[in-house]
Order: sequence, then C-alpha cells, then structure tokens
Amino acid sequence: MSGVNPYIQKVQATKATRPFKVTFVDEESGRSTDVPVDPATFGQIGQEGSLLDIATEAGVNINHSCGGVCACSTCHVYVELGLESCSKATEDEEDMLDEAPAVMPQSRLSCQCVPDGTRDLTVIVPRWNRNEVQEPHH
Ligand code: FES
Repeated sequence: MSGVNPYIQKVQATKATRPFKVTFVDEESGRSTDVPVDPATFGQIGQEGSLLDIATEAGVNINHSCGGVCACSTCHVYVELGLESCSKATEDEEDMLDEAPAVMPQSRLSCQCVPDGTRDLTVIVPRWNRNEVQEPHH
C-alpha cells in the first residue's frame, strides 16, 4: 500500500538524485543490512524516497501499521548517522512520535523521513520491530 495522507502537512523534502547507502541495524540482534539506494526505484510506500520506502524496496521489513501515511507510530526508527541529510519532521510527524515508545532525539517515523542522498545513513530498527527485520530477498 502506498499513498499520502491528505490531512497532514506536506513533507518538504529534497529528493536524492544519486546513489547512496542506508545501513539498517536490528537493535535486538545487532544484525545490519547494507542497502544500496537507487533513487530510480522510489515510490512504493510512505513518502517517496522515505526510509520506509527504501527498506521496503530492499526487502527489509519495518512494521508500518497505517501503511505509511503518518497515522501511527509503528514505523519509528532511530537515524543514528545521517540525520542532517533528512527532511525535517513536520508537526504531524512529531505528534505521532509522541505516541511512540522510547523516543530519542534521533527518532523519526521512517515513512516520513526522506534522505536527500548527500551522505550514507545508519538507521536503527528498535526492539519492538525485532521480528519484522529480515534479510533482503535475492
Ligand atoms: S507507518 Fe504509520 S506512521 Fe509510518
């Protein structure tokens, strides 16, 4: 499912134009998955080019109960490295994050957080998503 919630603020994002890398780390197991990002494949779920979009395209599952429309907080992740290259959180995202457990300064909703591709990122998938992170399918 993909789409944008018409009732929330528009995310102001600069879309990536060149390849970059996102490393998703499962907080529970410590297992990490390097995902080379090709901007040409964006658009599957959440905001186009969002961390959830990137993870889904690569076969790395992040729980996303509302389907990526900023109406839950299950896609909460920690952007450990590269947060400065990401779109700013809207008030709607921050309101939803208030519902999430263990919020930290680097917390983002992965369906709303769009990196601009100027650097590689490391993203921690928290424990409550621990059984949702899987290796990419080949
Ligand atoms: S999937 Fe619901 S807010 Fe991201």
